[in-house]
Amino acid sequence: MKKVLKQYNNFSKIYSRDRGVHDEVGDRRFYKFLSSINLKGRRLLDIGCGDGSDLINFEKMGAIPIGIEPSEKFVKLAKEKFPSLTILPGKGEKMPFSKKTFDVVVSKYALQTSPNIPKILNEVARVLKPNGYFIFLSKHPIRQFLEKINTFKGKNINYFEQKVVDSFIYEKKIHLREPSHPLSEYFSKNVLNNFDLIDFVEDYDFPASEQINNYIYPTFFVAKFKKR
Ligand SMILES: C[S@@+](CC[C@H](N)C(=O)[O-])C[C@H]1O[C@@H](n2cnc3c(N)ncnc32)[C@H](O)[C@@H]1O
Repeated sequence: MKKVLKQYNNFSKIYSRDRGVHDEVGDRRFYKFLSSINLKGRRLLDIGCGDGSDLINFEKMGAIPIGIEPSEKFVKLAKEKFPSLTILPGKGEKMPFSKKTFDVVVSKYALQTSPNIPKILNEVARVLKPNGYFIFLSKHPIRQFLEKINTFKGKNINYFEQKVVDSFIYEKKIHLREPSHPLSEYFSKNVLNNFDLIDFVEDYDFPASEQINNYIYPTFFVAKFKKR
């Protein structure tokens, strides 16, 4: 699983270069959910902030943003591009913040990289203030199920079993390996005890995400929660 995490070091440059072109649908969906929140003076955390481009957007929207990012190459790139940003090296599963630190927590295309999404969601519940918002975009489990079928050539396919699957993005220029997740990991009883789900959308962004067998299916989803 260490390799899964380290792979982002290899992609950081090309990902940073192409994300603006390929992530248009996801960005539109994600920022629509964020736009109804007044970010002025609010402390915002981005889990898996990549090259920091979103942090700059959040800052322009009035937030006081901070990022956490495990890939040292991404952290270096972000600091070169945007020297004023605050980005801490680290993972979402164990974050160096006190409880109830943030008004808003966001994450885009980072949760699915973790083998332990419930652990990250527990951390979000800990660091978010009551009535704070949590918005995340992640790979859709249906997409990961199709990627699993492709990776293992249709043999012994089990939706519920975590397996590292091949995923191709950005017109197949980037090959990722990520653990698969069922939908119930994101919407567990524990999550629903801590948060109210207030918005949800699923959509697709071919050919930014590989289109398997010309099927039409959701490649990502965005959820918006309010902390109880
Ligand atoms: C596909 S990139 C997305 C980057 C950025 N959020 C964006 O939308 O451009 C996924 C990011 O998640 C980070 N990541 C991977 N595993 C993580 C974890 N366990 N906790 C936090 N971030 C993680 C990767 O290093 C990478 O920067």
